[in-house]
Amino acid sequence: MSNYHIKHLEEYFQVYRKSVRNPEGFWEEVAEEHFLWRKKWNSVLEWDFSKPEIKWFDGAKLNITENCIDRHLSIRGDKTAILFEPNDPNEPAEHITYLQLHERVCRYANVLKDQGVEKGDRVVIYLPMIPDLAIAVLACARIGAVHSVVFAGFSSTALATRINDCGAKMVLTSDGSYRGSKTIDLKGIVDDALEQCPEVKSVLVTKRTGSEINMKEGRDQWVQPLLDKAYADCSPEIMDSEDPLFILYTSGSTGRPKGMVHTTGGYMVYTAYTFKNVFQYKEEDIYWCTADIGWITGHSYIVYGPLANGATTVMFEGVPSYPDFGRFWEVVQKHKVTQFYTAPTAIRALAKENLDFVTKYDLSSLKVLGTVGEPINEEAWHWYNDHVGDKKCPIVDTWWQTETGGILISPIPYSTPTKPTYATLPMPGIQPALMDENGKEIKGNQVDGRLCIKFPWPSIARTIWGNHERYKDTYFSAFEGKYFTGDGALRDEVGYYRITGRVDDVIIVSGHNLGTAPIEDAINEHPAVAESAIVGFPHDIKGNALYGYIILKETGEYRNRENLAKEINQLITEHIGPIAKLDKIQFVPGLPKTRSGKIMRRILRKIASKDTSNLGDTSTLLNPEVVEQIMKESL
Ligand code: PRX
Repeated sequence: MSNYHIKHLEEYFQVYRKSVRNPEGFWEEVAEEHFLWRKKWNSVLEWDFSKPEIKWFDGAKLNITENCIDRHLSIRGDKTAILFEPNDPNEPAEHITYLQLHERVCRYANVLKDQGVEKGDRVVIYLPMIPDLAIAVLACARIGAVHSVVFAGFSSTALATRINDCGAKMVLTSDGSYRGSKTIDLKGIVDDALEQCPEVKSVLVTKRTGSEINMKEGRDQWVQPLLDKAYADCSPEIMDSEDPLFILYTSGSTGRPKGMVHTTGGYMVYTAYTFKNVFQYKEEDIYWCTADIGWITGHSYIVYGPLANGATTVMFEGVPSYPDFGRFWEVVQKHKVTQFYTAPTAIRALAKENLDFVTKYDLSSLKVLGTVGEPINEEAWHWYNDHVGDKKCPIVDTWWQTETGGILISPIPYSTPTKPTYATLPMPGIQPALMDENGKEIKGNQVDGRLCIKFPWPSIARTIWGNHERYKDTYFSAFEGKYFTGDGALRDEVGYYRITGRVDDVIIVSGHNLGTAPIEDAINEHPAVAESAIVGFPHDIKGNALYGYIILKETGEYRNRENLAKEINQLITEHIGPIAKLDKIQFVPGLPKTRSGKIMRRILRKIASKDTSNLGDTSTLLNPEVVEQIMKESL
């Protein structure tokens, strides 16, 4: 029996039991057998969730890029590591072999060093899905710089907040990006952001669109001439297992985004392990995850997990609807993709279109299908299973989070029988618990509660950058001695888990995590707005959409509500990005509040979802009459 590669259900149970009985022994065996360490650890695990402090493989030395690139060179140097599929189907795909990747990462790493980047420095990467994004990520890791990728759909304000929060002095970007038929002025967004970031001294720019851009003397440089001059080899910086590898921001229910800090050794072991098992990856496979590297899914399952296994990983620049709704399936056929991993929102959008967009392509290469980021509804699951997988490909509904670093609950294809809408069983080493509202664990099956994890796993985020207290408060205070996920879940009669959704004020829209507070802050900046509250409501394609309840100031200005709504959405776009725009805006005379002044979002959520039959007891509200009025005028 191999700990590393599970092949049938009985083996899963055996491995799982072993992993829970002796987690240290289990992960030590995986780490020893499958990775390159420059020095072994002093201890496998030290942890204390009350501080919280978590250390995996402490004392070990390694560089993750040696594991993701160098060690493959002698055995699969000419194998494609990254298969880049451009936005425009007429532009040829690019096959970057492991040898070429090595050279490109080394050159980029040397450029960063020449620019004065040192181990521990933070580098913000704001690039579209082009090879330089993956290369820049790996180049940072090569020299021990901490990368912080910001999704290139975020606005300049959001970018500036993240740059300042992590104290980056360098930004890597491109002249522009392609998204379907649109060209986006990324450099312009960076220029705007940097007006608020005085610490940034250097910007390296990749040429992609050839758009006219402004290059600021003494700050901005084209990266290509620097790469051409750079030396093609760069010895890896030897890192401690617990040195930070990257910071990735995620929304919280309140306040600023949280810079989740992931460290090196444990993250590598866990993402590689789960990639191998959840996708049943085999040497000749062509694996494609459609996420953006700006999200955790791209970090763990486009870059690090696949490359640590010597895989071929597809990087797609485009969108599912360009030039038409058959684009995903055209790419699957063209590259004979074997594992395909996407978000339910994309599946729902494509399922609405004519089936010919799917059936005209040969999808017989597919072996495993995956979903991530939000609950998948039964209808979308069946469409995916029937039309994309031809009922032959197991669907892995993978549940995890930015904070968890890797997949925690998922079927293992060809081992775990799947069940629509269920993420099914925990990965080896993962010990879920369902908790009731009083903080007691709910044992047994056919129960539901708040999902916690009782024991650390190697890729759990170690802290929030610059704010350990917030890390403790957010994840380790709700339930003593446990990591609280913020999700609700149920456990069925055989012990399968189904994630039911967030139980806090985070709303998942098209698979993107959005906190209500930052959106409300953006809205409240409008001079006509007195107060606002955002809730989610069910949406056919996005899963959830945003409903804004807004109280206007009594100044008598802004009579035109339609323009006002547009201005509000414009403000949100500027502060956060277009993904956070409101689908519905209702101007209200007041918001239902408790006597302590807290907005009763539960009631607003019900009204937005048109589920007003059971609003619960509203008599304890400070202003019960307002509920009637909101209901009467609801959209
Ligand atoms: O609510 C869960 C939902 O996405 C949240 C994490 O979002 P983020 O940190 O952006 O990471 C997304 C990619 C890993 C979770 O708390 N979520 C993620 N996967 C699933 C899911 N909800 C239901 N089913 C899933 N498979």
